Amino acid sequence: MSEAFDAVDVIRAKRDGQELSDEQIDWVVDAYTRGAVAEEQMSALAMAIYLNGMRREEIARWTRAMIASGERLDFSAILGPTGKIATADKHSTGGVGDKITLPLAPLVAVYGIAVPQLSGRGLGHTGGTLDKLESIPGWQASVSNERMMKILGSIGAVICAAGTGLAPADKKLYALRDVTGTVEAIPLIASSIMSKKIAEGTDSLVLDVKVGSGAFMKDEESARELARTMVALGDESGVRTSALLTDMSTPLGLTVGNAIEVEESVEVLSGGGPEDVVELTVALAREMLLASGVDEDPAEALADGRAMDIYKNMIRAQGGDPDAALPVARESHVIKAPETGTLHSLDALSVGVASWRLGAGRSRKEDPVQAGAGVRLHAKPGDHVAEGQPLMTLLTDTPERFERALNTLNGSFKIAQSGPADVERRLILDRLSAE
Ligand code: URA
Repeated sequence: MSEAFDAVDVIRAKRDGQELSDEQIDWVVDAYTRGAVAEEQMSALAMAIYLNGMRREEIARWTRAMIASGERLDFSAILGPTGKIATADKHSTGGVGDKITLPLAPLVAVYGIAVPQLSGRGLGHTGGTLDKLESIPGWQASVSNERMMKILGSIGAVICAAGTGLAPADKKLYALRDVTGTVEAIPLIASSIMSKKIAEGTDSLVLDVKVGSGAFMKDEESARELARTMVALGDESGVRTSALLTDMSTPLGLTVGNAIEVEESVEVLSGGGPEDVVELTVALAREMLLASGVDEDPAEALADGRAMDIYKNMIRAQGGDPDAALPVARESHVIKAPETGTLHSLDALSVGVASWRLGAGRSRKEDPVQAGAGVRLHAKPGDHVAEGQPLMTLLTDTPERFERALNTLNGSFKIAQSGPADVERRLILDRLSAE
């Protein structure tokens, strides 16, 4: 079959800083998906995009081309007891200890909104929601589209694996970016996330764009630019989209791993849990309710157990036993505070990489993960610590992993003599919306 363009011309154009035409974009995304553009060619193009960027119009066209590579879901078919239900989705750009989807989805469903959370597995230092939930005995990540719609209609929330039919161009491209140093490009991240969300067909979307060492975007300005780009893409496609910019310089909550993050999520659903996890869950829930025209305080449904009831039903609908004991790591190692003072900083990236090295994450997508592995934190920035008190507990089934995890954590925290007031910690840094 003769091709409309030559991949080398498209690569050269972007390499030389030119804008790609609509036709070039449509062709290159389609040709790559069907294998007519080689991996090495797309790899060169991704690097040219990383280095030279894309204009907003190019990003919008690239996103549409990725959507067109696969199927689109239609949530308008979801019927609740009183007719069509509004759908609201949340997407996080990924962080360390980010278990928010687990309490958030059932919490928003309490208010009669359907919450589809098509999630992924972890790769590298950021954990994956599916890996966390798979630590619950019996729980299955894969459900058919038909079953997903049924669970959404009857229970109100579903967290499951995204089917292979949704934006297949992104699946292929994301795997390539992961091994070619081209993940951290705003046009590629924005189009990757938004193509899946728009193809999924949600009515509204709230983005949690992370900023800091544990996030793709290390500084606030780049995170704001990524958020602005995604909000505009959503809005142009008729998805009401807003974004919160949130801190990822230190892990969220006190657990980083799989089963231990589920355990902490259950604490939040029981009305307890760490302050930052509760604050972010409630803030994102408020945004999702607002986008669906519901003016209520979601904190109440966390405190009174209504969100917990939906969580348990949601886990049971996918074969899981929400009351079963969670797996526990066989081995542990405690890191103690070397001096007395205020914990000034605790680096998210170092803790994320340590947890990954302990077995909570994978290096290749075929690798298994350990359900019990991870890092339990005993103090957060701003807390007073006494010499010799436990700061972190490292958990794994395979003790030979401790040494590399400990190397990663070398220099990952600072203890100072000044008071907690000197530790600036703002979790929610900004809010962006299309208006
Ligand atoms: N998550 C995605 O789905 N895609 C990206 O490019 C980055 C994070």
